[in-house]
Formats: sequence, structure tokens, C-alpha cells
Amino acid sequence: MAGQLLPSKAGAGDSSGSQRESSKLVELPVQCYTHSEMARRYLIDTMGCQMNERDSETAAGILEQLGYEATDDREQADFIALNTCAVRAKPQHKVFSKLGELRRIKEQRPHTIIAVLGCVAQIAAQEIAQRAPYVDIIMGPRNYSHLAGAITTAQARADGDPIIVTDTTEVIPEGPPAAPTIPISSYVNVTYGCNNFCAYCIVPYARGREQSRAPEQIISEIEQAVATGRQEVTLLGQNVNSYGEDLPKACDFADLLSQVNRVKGLRRIRFTTSHPKDLSARLITAMAELPRVCEHLHLPIQSGDDEVLERMGRGYTCEHYRRVVEAARQRMPQMSITTDVMAGFPGETEEQFEHTLCAFEQIRFDQAFMFKYSDRPGTRAAQMDNKVPEEIKQQRLEQLIACQNDIAHQINEELIGTTFEVLVEGRDPKSPEKVRGRTRTNKIVIFPGGSDLQGQTVEVKAQQAFLWGFLGEIAE
Ligand code: 5AD
Ligand code: SF4
Repeated sequence: MAGQLLPSKAGAGDSSGSQRESSKLVELPVQCYTHSEMARRYLIDTMGCQMNERDSETAAGILEQLGYEATDDREQADFIALNTCAVRAKPQHKVFSKLGELRRIKEQRPHTIIAVLGCVAQIAAQEIAQRAPYVDIIMGPRNYSHLAGAITTAQARADGDPIIVTDTTEVIPEGPPAAPTIPISSYVNVTYGCNNFCAYCIVPYARGREQSRAPEQIISEIEQAVATGRQEVTLLGQNVNSYGEDLPKACDFADLLSQVNRVKGLRRIRFTTSHPKDLSARLITAMAELPRVCEHLHLPIQSGDDEVLERMGRGYTCEHYRRVVEAARQRMPQMSITTDVMAGFPGETEEQFEHTLCAFEQIRFDQAFMFKYSDRPGTRAAQMDNKVPEEIKQQRLEQLIACQNDIAHQINEELIGTTFEVLVEGRDPKSPEKVRGRTRTNKIVIFPGGSDLQGQTVEVKAQQAFLWGFLGEIAE
């Protein structure tokens, strides 16, 4: 029987915040699991970003191949995974409180396999093993090709040390089919990992170096998605703009988009995240000219101050950022631009923060994900002096949110009366006589309609504006 590569406990995994990247691997036997033992149930609790959502679909696909069925009830589950986020301290703390809740389940139903997956598993494996010794599997985001082996090994034994696989140097192989969770839309990875090492960011330590998938693999996954009824794909990468730099045959992200645009039956193409330093004129042209590529750019600014951007190691100035936005808006005047930003990076002065507010007022984002800077042990920023006190970070964040909310509301108010092409995702969970969908610019639109509209594109007139989008009515 084929063996799976799993690490030995000794020396395996990283302690919290350490930057070690590989762990020692040993051969473990894999048990065969047959359908006669079936009706086991799994539950995956996903925290964090779209990457993690996609990774959970991969894990779900693996579990379904092993004969598990999905459940929402953790009291019923035979396998429970937390797919974790380490980007800020708060979601990382949440993992430990969730693990505390799972202790009772493990005590009452010891056969339940508990797994911690994702970025916290990668950077805090030893801490998890110490604080929650009942966890069976601890696995980093690059290592899911070992998940089936780890599960079958965990099933075959009553207790023991956790199986830890945390190797960020692993080349991620093309895997078995994922179990998608969204009915009309699919996430498709184009790159894994990140090479940027922004001073504040834990992701390169958690997800390893950038690896581009071959274009043929991406296209074949999208063709599959379309064959199973998906109308839209969102191409995922930490920095999609550097797609292809590591591929043997030249293919950049603009080339990839034109290949994806040719997939028959696909209606909409989205992508995230773009990095301002790598966003090329070629990409803007591709977005403007390829009919299926949606007019939405998620372009994290992080700060509006050049000195802060420099210390963050972002590789662009605020002026460069503005020029990229201007060039994109010139080609696509209706496009929406969203961003990520951070208040209170170490050493950020009041004046530097004002520059961020000023940039927000001038650029006018459709939406922004706004955060207080959070120390991540092991990153360069964590070593920096002049940490901004918590109450000042909070105050700046609130100022930024107030400023951005005004702008987003104004932008959407100005769009009242506009007719949008809306791709309907399904019933609105809050009002069952309505459906909800998105415009090409990624704004949510809720309007009266039945579930027969799911997967259809409908022309909808915006009637009432909110921060997230509109209430509307089907256009005459
Ligand atoms: N503190 C606060 N926000 C962070 N982000 C990344 N690292 C940190 C950190 N240490 C934010 C960035 C990034 C988004 C995904 O999370 O804005 O774009
Ligand atoms: Fe996603 Fe970043 Fe969280 Fe990892 S740390 S799950 S990459 S948001």
C-alpha cells in the first residue's frame, strides 16, 4: 500500500511566529477506507479570506472522496476542522477559543477527529498541540495533499500525538476535485503563496513562496465549473498580477485572462487580489477589452503616506497608486475600486494618518476593508519601535470608517436610477420574496423575484442606496 509522507512529531511544525519553513517528513502507512463504513459526517468551520474558502472546498472534496458527508451540526460530526486565519491577532485568538469549545465534543465523542488547518496551523502548530492536545491533525495551507493520509491514520488510532504537517516549501500538486459551496460561482486558485514580504504580513510565512498553476490546469478547472452550472469564476492569488513569473512558458495574468475569457458558457470573470506595484497597463487593457472580465478592481492601498508605504515595504508611492487608479478609470469609467487599509502601522504619525484620510477623500473607493494594525510575531513590523497605542489606532480606524462610509454612500446614491446587469445568486436570506445578486462592479442588489431567477442575469434598476449596494426592481 502506498505510504503518505507525514512529519514525525519531533521537530515537526513551527512554534508561534517562528519563520521555520519545513518540517521533517517520515513515511506513515495509509489505511484503506471503504464505503461500507460510511455515513460519517464532516464539518469545516472556515475563517478568513477567499483563499481559505477555496481551501475548505479542497478539504471537503477530499473528505467526500473518503465517504464523508457534509453536516452543519457539530454534535453529529465525525470530523471537525477549523480552517484558520492568522492575518491579525484577533482571528488567531478566536481559533483557541473555538478549540476550547471542541474539547467537550472530543471528551463526549472521542472518535471525532479534530483538525486545525490553515495559516494558524502553520505558524502555531506547537502551541496548538500544547494547548489543545486532543487535536488530531494540524496541517498548513500548502499540505492538503496529505489530508486523506492524515485522516485515515487518525481514524486508525484512538489517541496519541497529533499528526503535524507544516511544510511551506511543498509544491502544491494538482488535486482531486473540490466540493464547491457556491451554486453559481467558483473560486479558482491561480497562484499560491506570496513573495512580497510586506513588513506587517504573516502570509508569506504561513503560505510560503509564490507558485503559479499551469494555465491548462486553470482552464480545465474552469471548464469543469461551467459544466456543473457555474456562470462566474473568481481567480484567486495573493498577488494575481505577478502570475506566471515562475512558469516555464511565458504567460502573464493578462494572457491568462484572455484564455479564461474564451471558455464557452462562462459569463463573468473576477479576480483578487491585485498589487499596485505590479498592476500593468496590459492588465488594464485586458480588463477593458475582454467582455467577460468584470469592471472591478480590488487594489489594497494600505496607507496614503509615502514614508509609511516605504516602511511597509510596499514598493509604490501614493502617487503611483493614484496613477494606476486613474488609468483604470480612464479605460472603464463605470468601474468600481475597492481597497484594504490599515490604521496605526508602527511609527504612523497623526500627519501620516491624515494623508491616508486625504487619499481616501480623493480616490473615493466604492468599498474598503479597514483594519487596525496588528502585531504578527516574526514579521519585520513586529520588531519596529514606536508602536501606536491601541486607543489611537481605534480612534484612527473609526475616523477612516466614518470617512469611507460617507463616500461609499454618496457613490451609491449617485447611481440611483441606473440599470445594472445583475447575476442572481439566490434568495435573499432576510426576505424570502426577494432575490440577491451582484452587478459586474461587485455591488449587491436585492430585488423582488423568485428562486427561478438563480443563475440568470437580469436588468435591475437601482432604487435605494446602501453601503453594500442597492434595493432595486427589475427594469421595464
Ligand atoms: N495587521 C492588520 N492588518 C493586516 N493585514 C495584513 N496584515 C495585517 C496586520 N498585521 C490586512 C491588509 C491586507 C488584508 C488582507 O489584511 O490590509 O491587505
Ligand atoms: Fe487568508 Fe491571510 Fe487569513 Fe491566511 S492569514 S487565511 S491568507 S487572510
